[in-house]
Amino acid sequence: MDATTHLLPNRRDFSGDDLIFTLNAAAQQRAATGARVINATIGALYDDQGTLVVLDTVMEQWKQLTSAEIAPYAPIGGDPAFLLNLAQRHWPSLTSLGAGVATPGGTGALALTLKNLLERGNTVLTAAPYWGPYATLAIEAGQTLTTVPYPDVHVGIDLGAWEAACRDVLDAQGRLLLWLNDPCHNPTGRSFSKADRTALMDVLRDVSSQGPVTLVLDLAYLDYARNPQEVRDALDEYAAFAAEGNVLVGACLSLSKAYTLYGARAGALVFPWTHDKALQGALITSCRGTWSNCARGPMSVLNRISKDRALQASLEQEHAQWRTLLAERATAVDAALKAEGFPGAAYDGGFFVTLDGGASPTVTGERMQAHDVFVVPMPEGLRVGICAMRAADAGRFAGAYAAAMRG
Ligand SMILES: Cc1ncc(COP(=O)(O)O)c(C=O)c1O
Repeated sequence: MDATTHLLPNRRDFSGDDLIFTLNAAAQQRAATGARVINATIGALYDDQGTLVVLDTVMEQWKQLTSAEIAPYAPIGGDPAFLLNLAQRHWPSLTSLGAGVATPGGTGALALTLKNLLERGNTVLTAAPYWGPYATLAIEAGQTLTTVPYPDVHVGIDLGAWEAACRDVLDAQGRLLLWLNDPCHNPTGRSFSKADRTALMDVLRDVSSQGPVTLVLDLAYLDYARNPQEVRDALDEYAAFAAEGNVLVGACLSLSKAYTLYGARAGALVFPWTHDKALQGALITSCRGTWSNCARGPMSVLNRISKDRALQASLEQEHAQWRTLLAERATAVDAALKAEGFPGAAYDGGFFVTLDGGASPTVTGERMQAHDVFVVPMPEGLRVGICAMRAADAGRFAGAYAAAMRG
């Protein structure tokens, strides 16, 4: 039966294909022929043998979960202990949660912000380049995405552009929601400098006189920063900004990368610096009306580890091992690109770096495929998943990039 006529007219033109998954499949197909493929399309961490990294500390606790830690419904808004433990992973001095709910990953948290903080037809602001599903989330909410350029690595933030974008959005819709994937940005692999962060906060503070402004931090990759102290400092700066009370500050938290529990779909949307009952009520109602309750198992794993200092130390030691590997890969790619005469690859943390894609990133990406190197083209350049690439392959990678860029 042809179901298209049953579909709403505005739901008929989606292919359902995801560029990243499509390119990953193409890379895997090529590898299956025996070719020596460099697959830098993936957004999950792989070791140098090509095996998915799964944190042992986490999986050992997962395997020990009792029936009672898995089977019962969790409270609709999530287990309060889980929410506080997860928030305290980011802000250890918090003594209470504020407002917040459990969500299926950071994606669920992002979706809830659109449902509760913007009207249909509104726009959400973010920096470009951005993680592709941001646009999908906006479409699904009947909204759009507006972008401002991510700070240039040499010049820093374009304050004029950020202020103009904020004011334009506020003029048009009377409220502003900014999704900021900082620190450890996907896809640039960079973090805001302290100066850029301070400047952005100044802008947000200024424009908040025009209408309600919400800053939502999308924090997916923090455990994989080159310099963990910079992450600590950034989170403290955001907390101090939130405490000023001019701008509502929240955070999308996720166990996908932090605990390598991508498939368990666990996370939270938290607003630790407000106890607003209306906000809490709205978030819980969204949970009930969207997915009811989130999975209890991953919440129980986080609660077990949060209670036990030895487990925390063991997890931290694993994170340190993998963030060191990621930094080594970034350094190797940077050096190899410089050896080919390119500017290199800036990297502060996370799973990716972004490179100039030339006149057409799509064409450059296709040319790299001719050398069995797969990356993700974006309008602003090429996303390179160092999370799935060996440092030893950096030279061959840079050679393919150079050949592609020189046409
Ligand atoms: C920037 C960014 N935000 C949020 C997420 C959310 O991931 P999840 O829904 O698995 O927690 C991801 C995952 O790739 C991401 O890259």
